[in-house]
Amino acid sequence: MRSWLLVLPLLVSSGVSTLLVRDGSSKVIRVPFSKERVAHNQVSKREPADGCQTTEYLRLTPQRFQQDFLFYANVTVGTPPQHIRLHIDTGSSDIWVETADSEICRKEGGNGCDIGGTYDNATSSTAEYVEGDFSIMYVDGQYASGAYGKDTLGIGGVGVKNVQFGIGFEGTSDEGVLGIGFERRQSRVNQGLEPYPGLVTQMVAQELINSRAYSVWLNDLNAAAGEILFGGIDTGKFKGPLVTIPLSRRTDLPSPIDFIITLHGLTVENGDGEPRELMNTSRSVPALLDTGASFTYLPQDVAAQLIELVGAVTVPEYKGPAVNCSKRSLEGSVDFEFAGATIKVDLKDFIIDATDEPNEDNHILCYFGILGMSEGSVLTLGDTFLRSAYVVYDMDNEAISIAQTIFNSTSTNIMEIGSGPDAVPSATRSTTDADSIPVTATTSAGSTNDPAAKSTGSPNVSNSAATTLNNASTKLLTPFLVSIFSLAILL
Ligand SMILES: *[C@@H]1O[C@H](CO)[C@@H](O)[C@H](O)[C@H]1NC(C)=O
Ligand SMILES: *[C@@H]1O[C@H](CO)[C@@H](O)[C@H](O)[C@H]1NC(C)=O
Ligand SMILES: *[C@@H]1O[C@H](CO)[C@@H](O)[C@H](O)[C@H]1NC(C)=O
Ligand SMILES: *[C@@H]1O[C@H](CO)[C@@H](O)[C@H](O)[C@H]1NC(C)=O
Ligand SMILES: *[C@@H]1O[C@H](CO)[C@@H](O)[C@H](O)[C@H]1NC(C)=O
Ligand SMILES: *[C@@H]1O[C@H](CO)[C@@H](O)[C@H](O)[C@H]1NC(C)=O
Ligand SMILES: *[C@@H]1O[C@H](CO)[C@@H](O)[C@H](O)[C@H]1NC(C)=O
Repeated sequence: MRSWLLVLPLLVSSGVSTLLVRDGSSKVIRVPFSKERVAHNQVSKREPADGCQTTEYLRLTPQRFQQDFLFYANVTVGTPPQHIRLHIDTGSSDIWVETADSEICRKEGGNGCDIGGTYDNATSSTAEYVEGDFSIMYVDGQYASGAYGKDTLGIGGVGVKNVQFGIGFEGTSDEGVLGIGFERRQSRVNQGLEPYPGLVTQMVAQELINSRAYSVWLNDLNAAAGEILFGGIDTGKFKGPLVTIPLSRRTDLPSPIDFIITLHGLTVENGDGEPRELMNTSRSVPALLDTGASFTYLPQDVAAQLIELVGAVTVPEYKGPAVNCSKRSLEGSVDFEFAGATIKVDLKDFIIDATDEPNEDNHILCYFGILGMSEGSVLTLGDTFLRSAYVVYDMDNEAISIAQTIFNSTSTNIMEIGSGPDAVPSATRSTTDADSIPVTATTSAGSTNDPAAKSTGSPNVSNSAATTLNNASTKLLTPFLVSIFSLAILL
């Protein structure tokens, strides 16, 4: 965090040239990020209704639920630099920023977008106008629209020139997004247009990193920060082998456009007996790694067994599991098996506070971070899984490299990712044969930020999965909240 503050004077004093000169020894861009719950959707507590036995219950809004645990990076846009924080998202592929003129920033009683910051192209000497038809819509119904601009984007102390991004004049969110997924997931492509070079591609083109790859260390839920390294890995943040697994592609596309790998098995060890195998190789399934999803979505029957195991409560017609926070004392883990790699997630790491407040009395309701998938969606490994993994997203090689994370690691050993096949240092390729099961359903079961076309005309058929997201997850989530709500009253 301190290093970020040090960067600012440099950017300012460098005047016309905002590009920082680096020592050239390492082409890695290191970006710490913070994790936050969204402030403007606080959980409200009320007095219980007559007849209820608990001292309090929770009232949650769908929006708040969906925006749980966002990851924010500080960036600058323009010359001189304008400070903005953006929500990092590997599941979408557009960057967009707020502008002070936008509807939402001017709204009376609002915060004027003070928290996230805004961009003004008029005061940037490097601003360029691209075109006026930016629009993006996310699964949770959030959207932004406005114009496309280009400017220098400062990130991790490095200036990336000519980065294209949306400027949101209208929309639902007062903070912008840093989408770093595959370019073929850009909202323009969804609307049938050609992609533009994204941030990571620009980093490579400007020789700031060697290949289109970055690694994400989400770290422990309760840790304040995590880290993303563009063009590098940090071997101090994981243990055991870093295993490379090819991405799966959709049956109707020539190459992968999502971070989907094959899950070969799932075993639960509950501490007091034999490990129980819930899925094995005879039931290998495509699994989407999605930092935009707070929870993990497994096949209904598998989720049901885990929900039962921890004693979470579901209302059958709603599918949503809630659990007493005291269950965090449970021993045991869920092992996710991939070709050559096993990621172990402690059961307690699936149990998540439903409020920001200290939870000493263990009476407050917690979420259980595993849900059943809705029909037609892909198994989704969201944050409740990803925190336990160190993941390299290698778009050039269409692969993921994955290892067991080390929570709260203070050791650092950053290595540059090279270019070409096997560019990820210290990674071993899985020895299992061709692993990519072509994917028919690619709808994330839980992403908050998967873009769907804000339809201008008919949606592009090859990307139609994204357009249906809206419905799929709202259907799943809204009832879930209703059930949490009613459970909370009942308990
Ligand atoms: C971003 O900047 C703010 C304000 O300077 C600082 O408080 C925060 O810690 C920074 N966050 C990260 C992840 O560097
Ligand atoms: C700034 O944005 C406005 C509105 O989109 C546009 O008309 C103008 O050309 C832009 N100016 C620059 C320098 O990019
Ligand atoms: C859909 O997108 C693909 C890939 O970008 C493109 O080749 C195709 O022409 C688009 N189809 C339509 C109907 O716009
Ligand atoms: C990591 O650090 C956080 C915050 O200090 C703490 O709450 C958590 O228990 C730590 N996790 C582990 C596994 O030590
Ligand atoms: C995989 O699981 C199925 C169903 O539980 C079981 O019948 C089968 O024997 C298992 N296969 C292996 C190789 O363990
Ligand atoms: C949660 O579990 C604790 C410890 O077992 C118990 O004292 C408490 O009553 C439970 N809370 C609810 C709401 O069931
Ligand atoms: C979304 O849901 C609404 C109401 O449930 C339905 O009318 C509409 O056709 C659905 N849209 C899609 C794209 O599935």
